[in-house]
Amino acid sequence: MIRFLLNEQSIESALPSGSTVLDFIRTHQRLPGTKIGCREGDCGACTILVGEWVNEELRYQTMTSCLMPLGNAAGKHIVTVEGLNMRSLSPVQQAMVDQNGTQCGFCTPGFIMSLTGFLLEPGSGDHEKAIASIDGNICRCTGYKSIERAAALIVEMARARPAKGHLDWLVQHQFIPEYFLKIPARLTLLEKDLNSQMPLVRGEMMIGGGTDLVVQKHLAVKNASLDHVYDTSSLQEIALENGRVRIGASVTVTRFAGSPVLQDHFPDLARYIKLISSTPIRNMATLAGNLVNASPIGDMTVFLLALDASILMNDGKQKREIKLRDFYLAYKKMDKRQGEWVEAILFEPPGENRRFHFEKVSKRTHLDIASVNSACLVQLADDGSIREIHLSAGGVAPYPKYLAQTAAFLSGKKPAGPVLEEAIRIMNSEVAPISDARGTKEYKRLLLRQLFLAHMIKLAAAETSVHEILFA
Ligand SMILES: Cc1cc2nc3c(=O)[nH]c(=O)nc-3n(C[C@H](O)[C@H](O)[C@H](O)COP(=O)(O)OP(=O)(O)OC[C@H]3O[C@@H](n4cnc5c(N)ncnc54)[C@H](O)[C@@H]3O)c2cc1C
Ligand code: FES
Ligand code: FES
Repeated sequence: MIRFLLNEQSIESALPSGSTVLDFIRTHQRLPGTKIGCREGDCGACTILVGEWVNEELRYQTMTSCLMPLGNAAGKHIVTVEGLNMRSLSPVQQAMVDQNGTQCGFCTPGFIMSLTGFLLEPGSGDHEKAIASIDGNICRCTGYKSIERAAALIVEMARARPAKGHLDWLVQHQFIPEYFLKIPARLTLLEKDLNSQMPLVRGEMMIGGGTDLVVQKHLAVKNASLDHVYDTSSLQEIALENGRVRIGASVTVTRFAGSPVLQDHFPDLARYIKLISSTPIRNMATLAGNLVNASPIGDMTVFLLALDASILMNDGKQKREIKLRDFYLAYKKMDKRQGEWVEAILFEPPGENRRFHFEKVSKRTHLDIASVNSACLVQLADDGSIREIHLSAGGVAPYPKYLAQTAAFLSGKKPAGPVLEEAIRIMNSEVAPISDARGTKEYKRLLLRQLFLAHMIKLAAAETSVHEILFA
C-alpha cells in the first residue's frame, strides 16, 4: 500500500509503485487540472507540488508528475492545481489573468504550481528566483512576457511574506487554502519508516527520481518490482569525512546545489547548476541516477569525473570503492556487478589552490542536454606550472570521458600557447564524437577546444596571462 496525502485527501493505493503520479491523479482520481503534454519532463504541463519533511521543516518542491513514480509519493503531500483552488482566484491565479498570462490555458496550471511553489520556498524571493521557478514550464501561446509580468506582480505582493511562518501568512492572504495548516500534523501521522526500504536489492529494478528510467522504460518501470531509493535516508547525507566530501547516492541535484558544505568549495556552483535541466527535474534527479544512466553527456557525471571522484559500490554483503573514471567501459556499459548499487560518491574538494571549473554548451539554456560539456580541476605550482590536473568531457565519446592522456601531458607544464595546442591535439586523439541532432562531429571537436581554453583562462589566468594562454 502506498499512503500519502493528495490535496486534502488521504490516499491508500495498491497500484504498482512504478505507475506515474500523473496517471494516478488524472485517471484514478479524476483530477484533470494537471495536464499531459510531453510525458518526458520537458513541458511542465503536469507540474505538481510535493511537500515533505526536510530537517523538521515542511518543504514543498515542484516535480513533473509524468515522471514521478507513485512509490516516491509515499509519506508526502501531493498538491495539484485543484488543491490550490479556493472560492475566488488566488493572487497567483489572479495575476496570471490580469497580465494576460493565459491564452489557450493548457500550460497555465503548471505555471500556477511553479509560481505558488516559489512562494512556498522559505526565505525572501526576488524576481530572479520567481523567473527561475518557471524554468521548467513551456508556453506555446503567450510569448512569456505576460507571464513574466505576472511573476513580477507576485513578487511585489509577496514582499511582506515573513521568512518564518510563511505558511500561515500564505493562508491568511489566500495564496493557499486553509487546509494547508493541518498538513504538518497529518504528515507526521503518516510518516513511515522510509529507511526500511533500503539498502537491500529486492526488486528487479532500482529507481531514484525516475527522470531517466520513466522516460526510457515507461512500461517496464510500471510492471517491474522496484526498489525505491529516492527517500532512503542512509543514501541522503552530504558530509566532510577525513578531508573528503561524501555524498549519498540519492542526493538530488537540488540538494547538491543547496548544500553549504559544497557551496563553500564551489563558489560558482549556482551558475553551473542552472545549466542543468530545470527546477522540477533537479528536484527529482539523483546523483547515482546520473552516474548509472551512463549518458555520454551526463552533466553531474562530467562534473564528478573532473574531481577524480570515487564511488562506493555495495552488493549487500561487501563494499568496494572504485574510481569513477574506471566505471565506464563502453556505451552504457559499466563496471557494475550483479546486485550492486551505488551507495556514495567521494572526492577531495577543491580549495584555494585546487581550482575547479565546469562548462556546458547546449542549444538553449534551460531544459536542454549538452552538445558538449566539460570540467577541469587544476592545482598550480608557484611558478605557474601545472602540479595536478583532471579533465573530463561529455558529448565527445560513447560514455562520459576522463581525458587521462591530456592530463598526463599537461602535468608539470606551464599552460601557455604551444603546450595548449599540443594538449588539444592529444585531446582530439582521445575523443570520437559523432554527428547528431546536437551538432556535427567537427563542431563538437571545436566546442571541446573552446571549453578547454575557457577552463585554462578561468583557472590559470592569474598566473599566466590570457594573452600567453592563447597566443604565446
Ligand atoms: C526533461 C529532462 C531534462 C534533463 N536534463 C538533463 C541535463 O540537463 N543534464 C543531465 O545530466 N541530465 C539530464 N536529464 C537526465 C536525468 O534527469 C539525470 O540523469 C538524473 O540525474 C537521473 O537521476 P534519477 O534519480 O531520476 O534516475 P532514475 O531514472 O531513477 O535512474 C536512472 C538509472 O540509475 C539507476 N540507479 C538509480 N539509483 C541508483 C543507485 N543508488 N545505485 C545504482 N543504480 C541506481 C536506475 O536503476 C537507472 O538505471 C534530464 C532528464 C529529463 C527528463
Ligand atoms: S507532461 Fe510534459 S513535463 Fe510532464
Ligand atoms: S497559454 Fe497556451 S500554451 Fe500557454
